[in-house]
Amino acid sequence: MAMKSLWIEDYVAPRTYPKLEAKVEAEVCVIGGGITGIMAAYYLGRAGKKVILVEGGSLGFGESGYTTAFITYIVDARLNDLRHRFGDTKAALVWKSGEEAIDEIERIVREENIDCEFVRTPVKIFAAKKEDVKALKKEEELAKRYGFPLVTNEGSEQFPFGYATAPRQAKFHPRKFLLGVAHAAERYGVKIFENSPVITFTGKEGNTVGTEEGSVTAHEIVEATHSTIDHPVEVPSRLEANRSYVIETRIRSGLFTEGIYWDTEDPYHYFRVDPKGEYDRLILGGEDHKTGNKTDADSHYLNLETYLRALLRGEAYTVHRRWSGQILETSDGLPFIGRSLTNSHHLIATGYGGNGMTFGVIAAQTITSLIKGEEALFGDLYSPKRFGGVPSILGLAWRFFMNFVVARIMPRSDDIAGIPSGSGQIILRHGKKVAVSKDHDGNVRMVSAVCTHLGCVVNYNNVENTWDCPCHGSRFARDGKVINGPAKRPLPQIDP
Ligand SMILES: Cc1cc2nc3c(=O)[nH]c(=O)nc-3n(C[C@H](O)[C@H](O)[C@H](O)COP(=O)(O)OP(=O)(O)OC[C@H]3O[C@@H](n4cnc5c(N)ncnc54)[C@H](O)[C@@H]3O)c2cc1C
Ligand code: FES
Repeated sequence: MAMKSLWIEDYVAPRTYPKLEAKVEAEVCVIGGGITGIMAAYYLGRAGKKVILVEGGSLGFGESGYTTAFITYIVDARLNDLRHRFGDTKAALVWKSGEEAIDEIERIVREENIDCEFVRTPVKIFAAKKEDVKALKKEEELAKRYGFPLVTNEGSEQFPFGYATAPRQAKFHPRKFLLGVAHAAERYGVKIFENSPVITFTGKEGNTVGTEEGSVTAHEIVEATHSTIDHPVEVPSRLEANRSYVIETRIRSGLFTEGIYWDTEDPYHYFRVDPKGEYDRLILGGEDHKTGNKTDADSHYLNLETYLRALLRGEAYTVHRRWSGQILETSDGLPFIGRSLTNSHHLIATGYGGNGMTFGVIAAQTITSLIKGEEALFGDLYSPKRFGGVPSILGLAWRFFMNFVVARIMPRSDDIAGIPSGSGQIILRHGKKVAVSKDHDGNVRMVSAVCTHLGCVVNYNNVENTWDCPCHGSRFARDGKVINGPAKRPLPQIDP
C-alpha cells in the first residue's frame, strides 16, 4: 500500500523549479518549501523584497505534504494550560492569532484564486472517557470568557461521553494551496529552486548559504526547514520529535457530518471527514511516538484500524493509503518564531506541534514583519527568547545523553547475512558502527550509523525504510540522504 500521502499522490505539481547551480545574491534567502517557507517568500515578495527560496527536494513534499491539514485555532495545548503558563492575555492571543491565520488563508485563496478545496468547517473534540467531560467544560468556560464560541454538547450515539464544538475552522488540500501560493510568489518576483539541499553556511554572518552546486548570499536567512538546520544545539535540544501515523479510508457517506474531529486521549486521535459524493473520505491519524524509539511501525497502522472499527461500530470501511510524518513539539506548547538568539541575520520558525497550518502562516507573517524592521506581529508571544521549561529541557538532555552513550556501548554483531530482508541493523565493522539495511530483494546498503547532527546512533524504521535518530529527530533515507533535519549532511555511504 502507498506510503506517500494523498496530497502528494493525487496532485501533480503544475511545474517544477530548477536546481541552484550558480552563485546568486538576494535580500532574503528562504530555505525550505513547506507552508512556512512558501508563505514567507510570498509575503516578502509582495512586500517588494528580492527573495530566493531554496528547497532541498520538491515544494510541499516535507511535513506540509504529510499533514492532515486541519486549519484551526484550537491548538494542541489546552487553553487552561496556556493560561496557567502565560496568563489570560497571551492565552487568548494564541487562539486569536490562529483565528486570524485562518482568515488570512481564506483571503489568499480568494485573492490569488487558488483552487484548493478550502472549506470552512466545525471542529468537534470528543471525550474519550466520562472523566474528560469536566476538562472539556473547563475549556468551554475559558474560551467563552475570551470570546470564542466553544460549546460542549451532551453525549450522542457516536460520542457517548459528550463533545465540544467550535464553528468556522477550516480544511484544505495543502499542496494545491501551497503550489498556488508559490505561483503567486513568483509573480511577486520570488525565484524558486528545488532539489538544492543547503549544506553549508559561510560568510561573516553565516549569510552565504551553500548547496552542492551553488550558493545564495543574502542579508537575511529564513530557516523554514521544519527543524532548524544552523542551530545545532540551542533549538533542537528544546524540541521533541514524534512520528504520527495516518490512514486514508472510505466510509459510507453521511455517517459523520463534514468536519474535523479529535479525541481527548494523550496522544490524541484525529480525523477529518470529506464528502466525496458516493462515499465519504475519512482520514484518521494518531499513534504518535518519539522518533527513533519504535521500529515496528506496522502495528501503528493496525491500531488505527482498530480505533476506526470502534468508531464506525460495525460499518464497513476500506483503507486506501497510509503514511506518517514528523511533529516537533516544544515544552510549553508554543512554537519558536523570530530572530535566532545566536545569529541576528537568521530567522527561525519551528516547534508547531500538530498546528503547523496556522502557526506556519503566523510564522511567515511574523518573519516578514521582522525583516521589514517592524515589531513582531504578536509581540513576544512566540519569540525564541522565551526558551524555558527547564525540567523538560533537562529531560530532553538526559534522553540525548542516554541515547548517545548507551548506543555506543551496546554490543553489536558483524553478521550481515543474518539481517532479514526488509529490515536494518547496526553492525560493528573495523571498530565503526555501520547502519546496514536490506531491501525486500535482499540488496544491501551500508551507511555510517552516526547521525551527522550531534553524533547519536540511528535506528532503523522498517515501515518507512529510513534511519531515524532518537536524539533530535533527524531522519535519513537508506542511501543516507537527509529526510528531516536538524542534520543537514547525509550519512556517509560505506562500501559493502
Ligand atoms: C501526520 C501529521 C499530521 C498533521 N496534521 C496537522 C493538521 O491537521 N493541522 C496542522 O495545522 N498541522 C498539522 N501537522 C503539522 C504540520 O503539517 C507541520 O507543522 C507543517 O507542515 C510544518 O511546515 P514547515 O513549513 O515548517 O515544514 P515542512 O513542510 O517540512 O517544510 C520544510 C521544508 O524544508 C526543506 N528542507 C529541510 N532541510 C533543508 C535543507 N538543508 N536545504 C533545503 N531545504 C531543506 C524540506 O525538504 C521541506 O520541504 C501535521 C503533521 C503531521 C506529520
Ligand atoms: S538528530 Fe541530533 S544527534 Fe541525531
